[in-house]
Amino acid sequence: MPLALGKIERPSDSDDCEVGLSEGTTAMSPLARRQTNLTVPPMITIASIAPHVGEEVELKGWAYNFRSSGKIFFLQLRDGSGKVQVVYSKGEMDQVQWEALQSLRLESSVRVRGRVKQDDRSPTGFELEGMTFEMIQLAQEDYPIGKKDHGPDFLLDQRHLWLRAESQWAIQRVRNTIINATYAYFNENGFIKFDTPILTPTSCEGTTELFEMDYFGEGEDGGTKAYLAQSGQLYLEAGIMSFGRCFDFGPVFRAEKSKTRRHLTEFWMMDAEAAFVEHEGNMQIQEGLIVRIVKDVLEKNAYELKVLERDIEPLKKVQAPFVHLTHAQAVVALRALGSDIGERDDLGADDETLLTEQYDRPIFLEKYPAEVKAFYMKRDPREPDRVLNNDVLAPEGYGEIIGGSQREDDLSVIIERMREHHLPLEPFEWYLDLRRYGSVPHSGFGYGLERIVAWVCGLHHVRETIPFPRMMHRLNP
Ligand code: 4AD
Ligand code: MG
Repeated sequence: MPLALGKIERPSDSDDCEVGLSEGTTAMSPLARRQTNLTVPPMITIASIAPHVGEEVELKGWAYNFRSSGKIFFLQLRDGSGKVQVVYSKGEMDQVQWEALQSLRLESSVRVRGRVKQDDRSPTGFELEGMTFEMIQLAQEDYPIGKKDHGPDFLLDQRHLWLRAESQWAIQRVRNTIINATYAYFNENGFIKFDTPILTPTSCEGTTELFEMDYFGEGEDGGTKAYLAQSGQLYLEAGIMSFGRCFDFGPVFRAEKSKTRRHLTEFWMMDAEAAFVEHEGNMQIQEGLIVRIVKDVLEKNAYELKVLERDIEPLKKVQAPFVHLTHAQAVVALRALGSDIGERDDLGADDETLLTEQYDRPIFLEKYPAEVKAFYMKRDPREPDRVLNNDVLAPEGYGEIIGGSQREDDLSVIIERMREHHLPLEPFEWYLDLRRYGSVPHSGFGYGLERIVAWVCGLHHVRETIPFPRMMHRLNP
């Protein structure tokens, strides 16, 4: 009898394993689906106000700022989608509501009605002629974040409130565009999203930065250590042998003892992997992705970039082709610029900054000395002491945003590499299987979302690029 490849044997005494349920068995009728869509209540937001010029609209939101000049009250209202000024005149409204306005405090939640007016002086182009005002909740008077300059530690302690500041709102909106651009790019290029585990039995990027825990398999056999994932790459390599091209996107963890402006303990990584793609093709995929991300942000986040006072001229120059430099060429260039980098050293953050300041496009930095890179990278056949890898360095001093490589696909070679790296083979047997059963040339890369957000937004430090940053000395809120 021919074997049904991959068919799951169903345990006879179990009914919790629904194999083979045909697609559509539980599908909704088109009518039901349409009705479900209707459950989202229609709502006018500040961002969608343009077609309502001349009309009366109701908005709900928070009092971002306000001032009064006796008979006129100016309220800066924010509703999540944007910010608009509402102008009330004492003589033209209910006096009880006017009194309520006089008692307003920062960040109170409110409901307003007013007539939409085009206003070219307003940064958003519109203003509301206030008609009614209703307090939803009068905020306490001690809102911790004021107009005065606060230090970064204070603001990070107040992160749950600081997120409401317009700069922080703008950064998270850009982050959202970058996430969506990434999904769109991969979906349009034949990649499927493949979710990789966070709890893992092995390390991907070396053992010095691993978060370790005791939980699994405790008991007779002594238990197995588990680690928080540093990258989903190794699992993606399994994914592509089924799907061809995959990407993941999720939090990863590095117990790095570095307190730099580029390091977080928990950050979001996107790994991508593709079968039958070699070193050059790998770089083409990365180039397309970065160009797409920057293009989408320029198109969708012009206002946010203005809020952040981001000079967009350098972003407009992010076009293919990027600069290509080998590690060897970079070392020569860096030494000429005054760096004391050794011939086979990894680049330090200062070296990266120095190098990126020489070009107005991102740099592919290729073919590092094998000894400074991970075990899975394939050697360059033309220079076997170097690997077929690349980092991408972002311009304007930002430095590494991507790390990637072609992978070693030969079983005996990768076993040798693992021995050189003092890695135990046993927990990697599943990974070695990928080289035993239908191995193919393949390549991939991973980006650090926060580093890309910091670069695109023009921020000095990655701590503002993630809603709740985790760093060596920061776990709250
Ligand atoms: O260069 P890395 O370590 O590469 C990998 O983990 C590969 N397994 C990826 C792959 O090939 N699929 O990390 C990838 C990127 C870096 O280029 C950087 O942008 C970011 O992750 N990154 C960090 N971002 C913030 N804080 C940290 N501590 C980071 N460490 C790496
Ligand atoms: Mg790296």
